[in-house]
Amino acid sequence: MLTSDIRTSYLDFFADRGHRVVHSSPLIPHDDPSVLFTVAGMVQFKDALLGREKLDYTKAVSCQKCVRAGGKHNDLENVGFTARHLTFFEMLGNFSFGDYFKEEAITWAWEYVQDVIELERDRLWVTVHPSDDEAREIWVKKLGIRPDRVIDHEENFWTMGDTGPCGPCSEIFYDQGEHIAGGPPGSPDEDGDRFLEFWNLVFPQFDRAPDGELTPLAQPGVDTGLGLERVATLKQRVQSNYEIDLFDPIFRKMLEFTSSKSVDEIRNEPSFRVIADHIRSSAFLVADGILPSREGRGYVLRRIIRRAIRHGYKQDLPNQFFHQLVAPLLDTLGEAYPELSSASVQIERALLTEENQFSETLQNGMRLLESALADTTSGKLAGDVVFKLYDTYGFPVDLTEDICQEHNVSIDSAGFEERMEQQRQQSRASEQFQEKSLTISLGDHETEFEGYSRLSDAAHVIGIYEQSDDKLVEVDNLGEGEKGIVLLDRTSFYGEAGGQVGDVGEITSNGTTFAVEDTQLNNKQILHYGRVTAGTLKSGQEIRFKVDALKRQDTARNHSATHLLHAALKTVLGTHVQQRGSLVAPDRLRFDFSHDLPLTDDEVSEIEALVNEKISINAKVLIRVMPYDEAIESGAVALFGEKYGDEVRVLEMCDGFSVELCGGTHVASTGEIGLFRVTSHGGIAAGIRRIEAVTGRQANLWSKQNEEILSTVYQRLQTNRDELVSRIDSLLQERQHLEDQLTSSAQQSAHDQASSLVETVEQVGVVKLVHGIVDGDPKTMMSVYDAVRSQLNSGVVVLGVVHNEKVNLVCGISKDLVGQYKANELINHVGSFVGAKGGGKPDLSRAGGGADTAALPLALQESRNWIETQSQVLS
Ligand code: SER
Repeated sequence: MLTSDIRTSYLDFFADRGHRVVHSSPLIPHDDPSVLFTVAGMVQFKDALLGREKLDYTKAVSCQKCVRAGGKHNDLENVGFTARHLTFFEMLGNFSFGDYFKEEAITWAWEYVQDVIELERDRLWVTVHPSDDEAREIWVKKLGIRPDRVIDHEENFWTMGDTGPCGPCSEIFYDQGEHIAGGPPGSPDEDGDRFLEFWNLVFPQFDRAPDGELTPLAQPGVDTGLGLERVATLKQRVQSNYEIDLFDPIFRKMLEFTSSKSVDEIRNEPSFRVIADHIRSSAFLVADGILPSREGRGYVLRRIIRRAIRHGYKQDLPNQFFHQLVAPLLDTLGEAYPELSSASVQIERALLTEENQFSETLQNGMRLLESALADTTSGKLAGDVVFKLYDTYGFPVDLTEDICQEHNVSIDSAGFEERMEQQRQQSRASEQFQEKSLTISLGDHETEFEGYSRLSDAAHVIGIYEQSDDKLVEVDNLGEGEKGIVLLDRTSFYGEAGGQVGDVGEITSNGTTFAVEDTQLNNKQILHYGRVTAGTLKSGQEIRFKVDALKRQDTARNHSATHLLHAALKTVLGTHVQQRGSLVAPDRLRFDFSHDLPLTDDEVSEIEALVNEKISINAKVLIRVMPYDEAIESGAVALFGEKYGDEVRVLEMCDGFSVELCGGTHVASTGEIGLFRVTSHGGIAAGIRRIEAVTGRQANLWSKQNEEILSTVYQRLQTNRDELVSRIDSLLQERQHLEDQLTSSAQQSAHDQASSLVETVEQVGVVKLVHGIVDGDPKTMMSVYDAVRSQLNSGVVVLGVVHNEKVNLVCGISKDLVGQYKANELINHVGSFVGAKGGGKPDLSRAGGGADTAALPLALQESRNWIETQSQVLS
């Protein structure tokens, strides 16, 4: 019987008994935040079971697609490791909404199992809730099941989530035979796969409130759930879900990806099982409208996909294998779920995008993780590493945990949370920083800004202020060398805003010069910060102001380039990119934006090339002032959270390529930017990336500096442009070779030292003792220790080494002796003579930091006395 035949037989069986056949509901429960996904057939009937919704039928039957991943019902961690757990599965179910109750539900289930599925009666076991005498009676008295096969089980009470219909239940198990590990329900070994629970008959009698209170339902109902894949396992006489016909095309497709394995090997390997399960849940979730994302359901989907990709990596499957499994999935489930077939293109696209994104960082992340695992001696992976994998390499924490488990290592969750909290605080702090504004009360004068059209002009000094403690004090004049703040009636100096830094330049009048070092906004006033470098500046005086044109032009280049960069990011990475912070200075620009993953080198090159292309077409920068609504309607980019007036300035470049609301100063046409070069990129907070770049003069300088660095490299390596890469490769090879030689001579030395030490073995009573000073470092000491231990079956080994003027000690005691002598006690004793401290386990302990290096020989001798004393105590 194929799985599809079982599905049909079930629907027919209950349709014949007056049930309405209802199609599976989507995996996202409608308007129900109490569960993450549809976890059972009853989810779509929740209100009908509670008596809140009247349907035009009182009996229903369905085959429901379910996902149990994330949330209260979560099987993600078990998948691949037991034969019976799946994140996606189909649940057959029959339901009664105040119609029939226990007797029919139990009797029909038994008939279906016996007459349609034809399972052997003597292999069946059932469980009931201890309070449910009625169900027990029906099983035993009406259906004649042996009373010892009807087991009371406290856990037989089913709830969907924290709320909703719930009640006692009765489950049916099949004993698959002694060759599979596991015991009957309720026994200590019940978690094994031998006794397979395949049908749960729930009798919802209560409505559960969020606080846990149970209110009896006016009309109890029936909610049953029969695991389709599990029944198929039994009917097809196989031992795991993965061996049923539904999975066959998926495993056969995987054969194409791996040349060295047979289909049975693939089917039995946990990694391939995980992938086979995960393609089902991923595809069905995308078909129901979920896309991988950073939170909620989308993040659970991302975790599932990334887990599958990682198992593919572990098994050396090629990149982009995962989305290719959609086609074989459609072969078996496409007909039963037309929504899957019709979304196949979107599913493949979504999975491929995620594969591409993750494979960029997976390999480097795995390298980092593997080396961190190799260095982990505490059995716990450091929170910093977990965080870095999460933040920089896109490894969901449970994925890291999963990989660590394969190495018997746990993760430092508290350390990880601490790093996450630090990051949350940092991003809050940077948000606050951006919102900093001056707002000091300096009268109601509004400065007229002329800086869009000219850089110098005549004007009057309206006020001069000096900083005294944290207050500004108005003064009449500023003498030579004095610092202050100058307010003019009009100016062309741009006050820092929208990321663009304030202008610099000078204010002059008849032999007086005020050097403007910075310009800030104070509401509608523009404040010039600086100092008098010659003469005396007086309030009311007529002056000339002059903005530093070169710096202003540099800043304008960077500002216009920032707009092009913003547009290029949206083009290359996607429209989700949003500006999160910006700095436009004369010598550089910095742009923070939302994007989940680190940029690849290819992406950065593409972004850089696109900006340079827009520069080279030398398009005019168009500036228009228009009502805010009109600007937004025309598609101009406004910054989230920014306040704008009714009239806004809209800046457009390159025929609609970039259209932004902006008050900054810009180049007249893009060609003035000259050249755009990205100097660095990286992540600054979860989901926020930063690009730093230079333009114009600075970009040329940057390129020049790179050339100089390269030419130094050529000189030092005595090579040239054409041969540089091969030169580096050969140097690396040489280095590897030398390292190998070093390791092998260190091993040889350790081995030789060990052999000489073993020859000096002393007999202390019945105990063999080897002690001595090792020549080398603590690492050599450990190698010597290992070599001595491997040559000495039973005994005590105490070694010391002097490294960086400190004594390090190791002490090991063979298993047969640890009952009498403890290495951690012996190390303390020996350590006390040299001032070394440490500890460890009774069979192996280490100490370090001993300052009294001269006492080492004597300290080692002491181990003999210690053993003697210890033996006396023991005897
Ligand atoms: N709701 C029950 C379960 O999921 C029966 O359908 O086990």
